Amino acid sequence: MAKSSSIFVCASCGSESSRWLGRCPECGQWNSFSEETKGTAHARSRTARPGPAQPVALSTILPVEHPRLATGSHELDQVLGGGLVPGAAVLAGGEPGIGKSTLLLQTAGHLAGQDLSVLYVSAEESPAQLAMRARRLGLASSHAQLVPEAEGTAAASPIPDPASLERMGRILILEGGSLSGIQSAISSLHPALVIIDSIQAVHSEELTSTPGSVSQVRECAWFLSEECRRLGCALILAGHVTKDGSLAGPKTLEHMVDTVLYFEGQRDRELRLIRCVKNRFGNVNELAVFLMTDSGLREVADPSGIFIDGITPKGPGSIMTAALEGNRVLLAEIQALVTGRVAGNIARTTDGVDTNRVMRIRAILESRLGIDLGDSDTFVNVTGGLAINEPAAELAIAAAITGSLHGRVPDCPVVVMGEIGLLGDLRRIPQADKRVAQAAKLGVRAVVLPEANRRDVEAARARGTVSGQGGSGPDLVFASSLAAALDAVFGK
Ligand code: TYD
Ligand code: MG
Repeated sequence: MAKSSSIFVCASCGSESSRWLGRCPECGQWNSFSEETKGTAHARSRTARPGPAQPVALSTILPVEHPRLATGSHELDQVLGGGLVPGAAVLAGGEPGIGKSTLLLQTAGHLAGQDLSVLYVSAEESPAQLAMRARRLGLASSHAQLVPEAEGTAAASPIPDPASLERMGRILILEGGSLSGIQSAISSLHPALVIIDSIQAVHSEELTSTPGSVSQVRECAWFLSEECRRLGCALILAGHVTKDGSLAGPKTLEHMVDTVLYFEGQRDRELRLIRCVKNRFGNVNELAVFLMTDSGLREVADPSGIFIDGITPKGPGSIMTAALEGNRVLLAEIQALVTGRVAGNIARTTDGVDTNRVMRIRAILESRLGIDLGDSDTFVNVTGGLAINEPAAELAIAAAITGSLHGRVPDCPVVVMGEIGLLGDLRRIPQADKRVAQAAKLGVRAVVLPEANRRDVEAARARGTVSGQGGSGPDLVFASSLAAALDAVFGK
């Protein structure tokens, strides 16, 4: 039985319940509830205003142009909406080992190179691990200083005075995750950027709950973002995403920060994507692409062709499409394999596309075009580890499935895009002109797209914005139905 002073909190999304639940009704996570003590949140630094505030006309308040701090990576600046904003908090979430610490230390190094001071709180790694990473990133020459955790106590470590720090270097690395220690370091250093790596390892001595629990993580994040806002320091909180919900996830913090970035990618591949899912100072859904190398993360300035291996048609079942990611167009290869059933249940496996979408496309091919897919197995992948969620990829998925079934290959490099309606019709897709322009840039010879996009694409062509390497650009084939589009891709 829960004591009246305790509450159960979901580690994944932070929703609360008066009793233990096996599955969170908010986010659907299993076994994520744990008991926490109620009302331990401390109200420190919530600055009281003297007297009642007077209302002011909104029109008299001038919009603030936020000065930005460059991170040293054009791509990262871009996803942030132009760089870091002093006083604003960024949450950088991702699975362990994806490269958060690497990118954050690189950012610290860049700011230090511009004569700005950085406080890097390393709450979960040993000095040796940090030193090794700094060496790989070539940061040894920037004279980062490390303040080890005070032995046996959770109390604040002594902070060197700012003047001596200035002589020593511009990055102060603070070991350990004591909130009071971090607070005193921030107030004595007044850095341009505070990096907390990770927020789940920071703990406040004033709270009874365990480090990593929802109330600790929330309270520490709230306190640090208030403190940095007050002092005008940019703040980056690294947050681990764990599948098992053993740590309070970054989801619980999303509403507290100004910007949320998620790192994506597979650890065994070198590609790393950073996606912005919330931004008070810029566009959401922006995407930055990096490669993990021996000496840290290297940005990919023009990633449009990085997910494909050349533009020549690869074989039956491989079709190129142009996907939209935030503001940028990425060429992607969709691969499908339709085979006689291998064994047992029918397999419909997908990687990088939604399985339900593939099932719907299969059904449309069967019932509207009379293509017999029987009880064959269907596998659909996007190559290069990219995930595509937009309907504009549907025509390419349909073409890849039919290509695999009939053993047919387009006879020139072609990009296929369009949304498929349940009647077998093709529907307009957003920003077709931009996609055609990117395909043209990479040397694609033909683009098959919905008739409904004819006007905008031809207008862009008349303006000269979609011509490619040869000048005139790819052949454009506008189709109003799925059947006509497939005829255009493979020839009749
Ligand atoms: P890290 O930044 O520690 O991940 P996170 O903070 O998100 O847990 O990244 C660790 C991985 O990156 C590790 O597998 C080693 C690899 N790595 C490189 O390949 N090159 C490098 O220069 C660095 C610093 C790390
Ligand atoms: Mg790390």
